[in-house]
Amino acid sequence: MRIAVYPGSFDPIHNGHLDIIQRCRPIFDAVVVAVLRNDEKRPLFSVRERVEMIDELLQDYPDCRVESFSGLLVDFVREAEAGVVVRGLRAVSDFEYEFQMALMNRRLDDQIETVFMAAKEEFSYVSSRLVKEVFFLGGNLEGLVPKPILRRLGDRAARSTDDD
Ligand code: PNS
Repeated sequence: MRIAVYPGSFDPIHNGHLDIIQRCRPIFDAVVVAVLRNDEKRPLFSVRERVEMIDELLQDYPDCRVESFSGLLVDFVREAEAGVVVRGLRAVSDFEYEFQMALMNRRLDDQIETVFMAAKEEFSYVSSRLVKEVFFLGGNLEGLVPKPILRRLGDRAARSTDDD
């Protein structure tokens, strides 16, 4: 079994992420989307919400599943019995950080390989950070974010208004 782990914060997942997942499917037997549990960052969506959202989007893909993880990525990859970490590259500006992570992960476990995939051009400028910013400023995100996620953003916005 060739299993790939596709890790990230996914706060929230967008079409650029989904494109990478789709590109992994013909290459690997299984893809594990791994959502980082990170107490330092203040995410918009809880880990449980992000896992739920991704799980909903992966319903039609029996070869893909979502899990959350904390601690070292390489430990999670070993536990998942995977040998590959997949990361998407949108532009050269992503490269330096990604290269550092890949080399650090290799140093931690040289049995685990990082594979970079070029994101689809039409998503090369899309990030979760910009998705959140544009959403909360009322911009149109159609085509950039899956519809169920747009709905969740709407629910989240309504919740923030209630909290105020
Ligand atoms: O989507 P992101 O936030 O760019 O994803 C970053 C992620 C989750 C891949 C990265 O922060 C990570 O792997 N964190 C786990 C901690 C770890 O293993 N650190 C050492 C290796 S760089």
